[in-house]
Amino acid sequence: MEDNLNLVGAVDQGTSSTRFLVFNAKTAELLCYHQVEVTQLFPHEGWVEEDPIEILRSVHECIEKTTENLLKMNICLSAIKAIGITNQRETTVVWDKLTGQPLHNAIVWCDNRTQSTVDQLVAKTPNKSQDYLKKYCGLPISTYFSAVKIRWLMDNRPDVKKAIDEGTALFGTIDSWLLWNLTGGAKGGGKHVTDITNASRTMLFNIRTQQWDDELLNFFSIPASVLPEVRSSSEHYGDMCEGVLSGVPLCGCLGDQHAALVGHTCFSPGDAKNTYGTGCFLLQNTGKRPITSKHGLLTTVAYKLGKDEPTHYALEGSIAVAGGLVRWLRDNLGIIKESADIEELARTVNGSGEVVFVPAFSGLYAPYWRTDARGTVCGITQWTTKAHIAYAALEAVCFQTREIIEAMRQDACDVPEDGKSPSTTSLQVDGGMTNNQLLMQLQANILGCTVLKPSMPESTALGAAMAAGKAIGVWSLKPEDLTTVTFERFEPTISQDQIASHYAKWKLAVQKSMGWHY
Ligand code: G3P
Repeated sequence: MEDNLNLVGAVDQGTSSTRFLVFNAKTAELLCYHQVEVTQLFPHEGWVEEDPIEILRSVHECIEKTTENLLKMNICLSAIKAIGITNQRETTVVWDKLTGQPLHNAIVWCDNRTQSTVDQLVAKTPNKSQDYLKKYCGLPISTYFSAVKIRWLMDNRPDVKKAIDEGTALFGTIDSWLLWNLTGGAKGGGKHVTDITNASRTMLFNIRTQQWDDELLNFFSIPASVLPEVRSSSEHYGDMCEGVLSGVPLCGCLGDQHAALVGHTCFSPGDAKNTYGTGCFLLQNTGKRPITSKHGLLTTVAYKLGKDEPTHYALEGSIAVAGGLVRWLRDNLGIIKESADIEELARTVNGSGEVVFVPAFSGLYAPYWRTDARGTVCGITQWTTKAHIAYAALEAVCFQTREIIEAMRQDACDVPEDGKSPSTTSLQVDGGMTNNQLLMQLQANILGCTVLKPSMPESTALGAAMAAGKAIGVWSLKPEDLTTVTFERFEPTISQDQIASHYAKWKLAVQKSMGWHY
């Protein structure tokens, strides 16, 4: 059995599925992985929940299955030197620290039950502005972020409020929930920690002082006692306390979009990547200084790869619905059997037939931040078929991305001294939807630039593994060390003039989607 390898594992806990992947730290090669779907619960319209215990079990199952495969490949499990965690962000778990039991299902990032909480919070700001807290946390007051979800739980679930008041409750995003459990949890030894990227998505963390912020805690009336300790994205948090990898150090942790930025080696200001998952998230590295967007983007911590390493920041364009739209076409309309079938269906037509689909299921995120928007399909005629709808769904993902790129370019113009826009000639992409060749071609056409898809599509997990490998000194973070990664290129095949009128229709349809829900 081979045991002189340096391997690093990554838990990738996303909105739709959990995976455990193992990489070779020398070559960045993915050796094997296992994936388990996670059940999404929709108890009311607009509500999205997941069971934290199911999530934890899915992690254990993925670790077991992946390690079985490694053994079949004649690789000794002792070759796994470290584990990183990357996760769906903002999703909120509150649990009992004595029993380890969740006090409520996890409230998922795209859940919009908190719309009236948001309205109340905005109303109490001096200038009645959604952006009032941006100067501290870089984020607008929105249903998206954790603090609003904690506030909702405290206002609507008396048992959660009581446990928080009595000091028996702990809050965490999914990374924190997993780290606490994997290091011992209620049995003893559980480390209540989070990393700086996940903390920067809660609305309780000051991205400039890099600490939990009293002003923010007071604004939301949330006690500091429930919060995890904030650590860097690459350091030793604790060891796996049970299972086949018992004793292996957990030493990388980043929110999934930040991990993908690292996995793409977007380490220089101006470098950007777009990840197409349940949602779609375009992050641009802005260097060691946070830049406040004037065009609807978020300011977020990009990464801090070691206790004594500098913090890097990013501008982010968050799109709530991307792969989620394909899932909706599959599960709610039944026009495809498998998500992958959307490509074949869309390819049966030459275009959307002027149909425009704005998938504002939970309002619109960047660059609009409108909780009152709802999904809108415009331009339907008697001639419209399900294939046109499928085509319009793919275009919707690409048009939303174009709006983010345009916002980033405008922000870069506002800070000419050190602002850089994402490359005007190419965009690096990853995520499940990038297997859709038609989508990638449409994206290149709609952006008018080259789309670069890495041969190893698991950039998110790779970033978490890199952070963990760096912490124990087995992984250098130089782009040239990613020797096994090559790129597939998608070049624009039509002119921007041909896109212009269609894009104008997209903008019109976006306006029509607003003001629907109040
Ligand atoms: O902010 C939410 C994001 O982290 C979810 O990512 O890949 O599960 O859509 P994904």
